[in-house]
Amino acid sequence: WWTNVEMGPPDPILGVSEAFKRDTNPKKMNLGVGAYRDDQGKPYILPTVKKAELAIQGLDKEYLGITGLPAFTNAAAELAFGSGSSVLSAKRNVTVQGISGTGSLRIGANFLDKFFTSNKSIWLPTPSWGNHVPIFNYLHICCWLIMCFESCLLYNNSACFFRHAGLDVQWYRYYKPSTCGFDAEGAMEDLNKIPENSIVLFHACAHNPTGVDPKLENWKEMSQICKNRNLLPYFDMAYQGFASGDINKDAAAMRFFVEEGHNILLAQSFAKNMGLYGSERAGAFTVVCADQEEAARVESQIKILIRPMYSNPPCNGARIASTVLTTPELREQWLVEVKGMADRIISMRQQLVDNLKKDGSSKDWGHIVDQIGMFCYTGLTPDQVSNLTNNFSVYLTKDGRISVAGVSSGNVQYLAHAMHQVTK
Ligand SMILES: Cc1ncc(COP(=O)(O)O)c(C=O)c1O
Repeated sequence: WWTNVEMGPPDPILGVSEAFKRDTNPKKMNLGVGAYRDDQGKPYILPTVKKAELAIQGLDKEYLGITGLPAFTNAAAELAFGSGSSVLSAKRNVTVQGISGTGSLRIGANFLDKFFTSNKSIWLPTPSWGNHVPIFNYLHICCWLIMCFESCLLYNNSACFFRHAGLDVQWYRYYKPSTCGFDAEGAMEDLNKIPENSIVLFHACAHNPTGVDPKLENWKEMSQICKNRNLLPYFDMAYQGFASGDINKDAAAMRFFVEEGHNILLAQSFAKNMGLYGSERAGAFTVVCADQEEAARVESQIKILIRPMYSNPPCNGARIASTVLTTPELREQWLVEVKGMADRIISMRQQLVDNLKKDGSSKDWGHIVDQIGMFCYTGLTPDQVSNLTNNFSVYLTKDGRISVAGVSSGNVQYLAHAMHQVTK
């Protein structure tokens, strides 16, 4: 049956992990994967998550509704928009539970594909998280085959589980290699040229892969451009609290857009800020609507999209996250834990720069501390990356991105030395 199925390319990040596993150098470092590690390099289970797990022990395992656990979707929306949000008090939001950030983005992509009728293009920053393109656009050849097969069975395309959302992905300038910072001029110029009534994707904070976030004045300008050109902003917020250590600061850009009257789309992930990477996969997708009546119509259609995809989401992660967010003592402790993770990363950035200087590097590494969140775009060239991997067993993606979460007080000196050696 499958003789015509070609071998697909390996996932670039998982490929880095595979090569890391094969390396026998005791000093090897894996800076490819975006998962938090503590200062001993170990995965970290948040103490509040452990407490919440105890609190929900013994609950039944019945189906959730199609849109998920209401206690969770309410708490997720409140976390994103803030407790005093006028959107929430007017009940203008539709917030549904998704399978972490990816699944939530994907619900949005399918919703846009079906209902965003004016212009099917979505504009992403250059570069963007690698998964954004296939989430919004990419139709694999095998998916075409499956689609053909499905249409033979008279399936409705909208109910097709395998089809990727068919939006036209376009790019606006974002990262400036010469400064390893935000290309404000290029971004504004490009945004100003986007055809009216298009969709624009923004990383709410801790841009992946660059770690470069616009300043508030840049966000203000981008909001104005979106207004002028009637663009629909879609915020991907995978790192709320994880960037600066402050959940409100990290949501400030998105909230500013909402205050300015943009009826945004939002995808949230609890993978990073609660450490719910694997077994739980809790996330949320929100559409801010014009009013409650519009919200009811939108929600009814999102349910119709979700039902044939996975029917209803799993309850465990949603229960954990909502218990943490709605139990006052746990929430307070969680805010401290999130800040602890963010602060450790911020401190590693500083220590990396200090150690580079100590090792004798005279290059300007200021961007390492200016960038924010889990990832740092070091500015290393593909050749320097190969050198780092082949001669120092430091594993990272070819674009020079490192996960700062994989750096610790035990290996930062070694990393700085290796980076200095390959860049001098
Ligand atoms: C920008 C961005 N969006 C979304 C996600 C979604 O992650 P997850 O599906 O694990 O929640 C990630 C994770 O790396 C990300 O970096």
